Amino acid sequence: MTVRVGVIGVGWIGQEHIRRLTEVVTGAEVTAVTDIDAARAEEAASRVGARAVANGAELIAADDVDAVLVTSWGPTHAEHVLNAVAAGKPVFCEKPLATTAEDCLRIVEAEMAHGRRLVQVGFMRRYDAGYRKMKQVIDSGRIGEPLIVHCAHRNPTVPESYTSSMAALDTAVHEVDVLRWLLDDEIVSTQVVTPRATSKRFAHLKDPQIMLFETAKGVRIDLEVFVNCQYGYDIQCEAVGEEGLVRLPDPASVGLRSAGRHSTEVPTDWVGRFADAFDTEFREWIAGVAAGSEPTGPSAWDGYAATVITSATVEALESGRVVATDLKPRPALYGGAA
Ligand SMILES: NC(=O)c1ccc[n+]([C@@H]2O[C@H](COP(=O)([O-])OP(=O)(O)OC[C@H]3O[C@@H](n4cnc5c(N)ncnc54)[C@H](O)[C@@H]3O)[C@@H](O)[C@H]2O)c1
Repeated sequence: MTVRVGVIGVGWIGQEHIRRLTEVVTGAEVTAVTDIDAARAEEAASRVGARAVANGAELIAADDVDAVLVTSWGPTHAEHVLNAVAAGKPVFCEKPLATTAEDCLRIVEAEMAHGRRLVQVGFMRRYDAGYRKMKQVIDSGRIGEPLIVHCAHRNPTVPESYTSSMAALDTAVHEVDVLRWLLDDEIVSTQVVTPRATSKRFAHLKDPQIMLFETAKGVRIDLEVFVNCQYGYDIQCEAVGEEGLVRLPDPASVGLRSAGRHSTEVPTDWVGRFADAFDTEFREWIAGVAAGSEPTGPSAWDGYAATVITSATVEALESGRVVATDLKPRPALYGGAA
């Protein structure tokens, strides 16, 4: 079966995912697209032989759309995801699931009323080969119980429009999701420490930031977010356990010996660093939709948790206090007891 996908929002990542669904993933076809910029929708549609439709509601209702991809601006996600769930169609929503905890919970409740999972959230790091190997090692017990995790998320530069709260909401959100998954644990408190700021930043920006998370099992996580580090896009993660340590591998790159030096490349952006992860993420999502199974990737609950934890981290940055994340009990549909 070919899964016919409708895409809502064809900006940067929407077009990138259309290319992926068309050229990389087998078993998928983009049949309809929409964007509040109608000319952009027409152009994106014509490139892949799809049709442009007037708005998200019309796209979700269309007979030639089996599954929905939401890649519009974050504050619009909840409306489209809720419409897709009401229509009983599988929906892949780029992060964030919604920008408020209340909207995330509305989606969770709608999905629970539907009775089975339809929603997957676009946290692609769970599909990165290195993180998957780390998870296998942690799950196997080879490092014993994890005790501490050290992480860094560094970007070479960010535009002036980037604000201090985006360090949590847009940048650290990926670590928040992947760490909850890696450790099979929940983040219960968050704190932010700001060291001396780099002079290579805009005056309004607190950069770098050190985020300190505590999990329900007592694991301590330190995450350096440094978005003007200049030298490259660098993702580090090291879990220290009772009996050993496991570290995220750097992406494979040739070793270069030249001019008296031995060097390997550092990636320059997340697009290249996680290209394979995005491909795998969409291959697995489409295969699941084609098989009629529930999605196994990040759930609406994970989207809710990420929004709550990153919002609490912004509060921690602004207040200077340790902030409890105060998540609701996890419902049974998402593997919890409630
Ligand atoms: N997983 C990741 O690492 C990752 C990376 C980049 C972006 N994203 C997420 O993807 C989303 C889109 O990001 P982007 O960089 O492509 O932004 P963008 O601004 O390039 O594109 C967004 C598009 O959505 C359209 N749009 C906005 N509201 C709409 C609506 N209600 N209906 C239809 N179209 C609408 C806009 O006109 C625009 O064309 C954001 O939520 C962002 O956080 C995730």
